[in-house]
Amino acid sequence: MLSPTDLAQFQKDGYLILPNYLSSDEVASARKQITSIIDRFDSSEVSVFSTTDHSVTSTSYFVESASRINCFFEEAAFDKQGQLKQPKELSINKIGHALHDLDPVFYLISYKKELTVICHQIGIEAPSIAQSQYIFKQPGIGGKVAPHRDSTFLYTNPPSCTGFWMALEDATLENGCLMAIPGSHKSELESLRFVRNAKGTETFFIGEAGPQWNLNQMVPLEVACGSLIILHGALVHMSTPNRSRKSRHALVLHTVDGAAEWPADNWLQRPDNLPFKILDQQV
Ligand code: FE2
Repeated sequence: MLSPTDLAQFQKDGYLILPNYLSSDEVASARKQITSIIDRFDSSEVSVFSTTDHSVTSTSYFVESASRINCFFEEAAFDKQGQLKQPKELSINKIGHALHDLDPVFYLISYKKELTVICHQIGIEAPSIAQSQYIFKQPGIGGKVAPHRDSTFLYTNPPSCTGFWMALEDATLENGCLMAIPGSHKSELESLRFVRNAKGTETFFIGEAGPQWNLNQMVPLEVACGSLIILHGALVHMSTPNRSRKSRHALVLHTVDGAAEWPADNWLQRPDNLPFKILDQQV
């Protein structure tokens, strides 16, 4: 439950940190389950996800991950011959985007009652989880995430995207914690959107980027393992590369309001047999 002070803080800054959102058992079960998913993953099924070069994401593997559990590698994971330089479990950038609906362990963690309560408290009428991502931020090679707003990638009309970033390890400046510009969610959302063509064979940006953000205003959001960071969909945020020896695992959910329109050209489209679930209707 968010206190009135929490709600005021979220409205002022566009983010809110809640320590101890996940129990140590939930953290351990998420980490154990992701290990078994990686064990079953055939690494010849390789795709690179880069948030700095989105042309790389224009593949069916990426588009189809809307309703699958797909693995995406770090750009720096490969040598010149295209072979992994380290074991696959230390090479993956992230796994997404339907862990919450397809994996029983991540289902339980994602559809916690507390999430429903928080969503209603921050004004989401019919919250549903649009995507889930397990992010590794691998030691030494964890790539940067360029400054962005999540509503650019998960747009609804009116905008309703909200991020729920859960630390599965301590996140610090050293291992590439989130950084955000407090209050940036209050400036107008630019028309830039990440979309796909009708066949789902290409993804690309449409619309116009807004004014340049002043990155000097970024503040680090260092949090302890188990913490939740709630991120307004229009908050400008990023993370730096991880050059340390420590990974920085996190589970990130993005909710949208089922009462808002989900455009047919959003990159993420679910097939009819796997629609978004409304949180209130889950156990
Ligand atoms: Fe983001």
